[in-house]
Amino acid sequence: MSLVPVKNLLEKAEREGYAVGAFNCNNMEIVQAIVDAAEAEKSPVIIQASQGAIKYAGLKYIVALVQVAAEQSTVPVALHLDHGTGFEQVIKCIRYGFSSVMIDGSKLPLEENIALTNKVMEVARAVGVSVEAELGKIGGTEDDIYVHERDALFTDPEEARVFVEKTGVDSLAVAIGTAHGQYKGEPKLDFPRLEKIKSLVKIPIVLHGSSGVPDEAIKQAIKLGVRKVNIDTNIREAFVKGVRETIDNNPKEIDPRKILGPAKKAMTDIIREKIRLFGSSGKA
Ligand code: G3H
Ligand code: 13P
Ligand code: ZN
Repeated sequence: MSLVPVKNLLEKAEREGYAVGAFNCNNMEIVQAIVDAAEAEKSPVIIQASQGAIKYAGLKYIVALVQVAAEQSTVPVALHLDHGTGFEQVIKCIRYGFSSVMIDGSKLPLEENIALTNKVMEVARAVGVSVEAELGKIGGTEDDIYVHERDALFTDPEEARVFVEKTGVDSLAVAIGTAHGQYKGEPKLDFPRLEKIKSLVKIPIVLHGSSGVPDEAIKQAIKLGVRKVNIDTNIREAFVKGVRETIDNNPKEIDPRKILGPAKKAMTDIIREKIRLFGSSGKA
């Protein structure tokens, strides 16, 4: 199959009340693990690349890897830019073959975020690429954003309504208490805020920083309108644990394939678990 826009996947998820997993990739083994998991679960899947991933692997490598993975798969696969920060970069990704982009203007004042998102929308619409935007500040390390404060930085429901009305964006990432990276304590999600946002904006909601959020909280968020769930840290943890175990058990091993193979399997297992949790198994 060729790459599909995220919008198509989320529209079906919205109709049927589940969420699609968006998994971050940085190399071939991660791309393969994501697609293997989606195939095994017969689930649609979003493979996304961050600024860091593009810096590490290179834009052309990411696109080529994911295109091959999609061509060989029987389930719908989207390639999405995660936390795109500038107009030029977003356009470059569209030109190289991404089927979906995020323009993250969340650091900007509301009007500037709207203007930047609209600039991207104009181009993306013309070429059938879907757009995710962000409102509010999601906690944790997000490039150079480090957020300590809570409520002041959460998404304001009324601002979300205005934002969606003025941009017509396809999906919206919200700040409701999740954070990127590993949590120190248990995250507490602001469900009343999510419910309010969803009653004012009728588009799919995106949950970032979803690794480490308890399963019950994820289920509740999906019940209240989250349709795209971003997972990166859990994949990193599985990868490193897999590599470490193999090296610890076989200190003389020098074949990278025998080290990365089990790590890939460990990533596939956690991604399958997440897909089942999100309710998208069998929805391909
Ligand atoms: O949004 C955060 C993701 O986990 C990506 O992180 O920029 O280190 O690749 P990264
Ligand atoms: P985690 O690393 O916390 O799973 O967050 C991933 C994410 O939100 C990518 O945009
Ligand atoms: Zn994120």
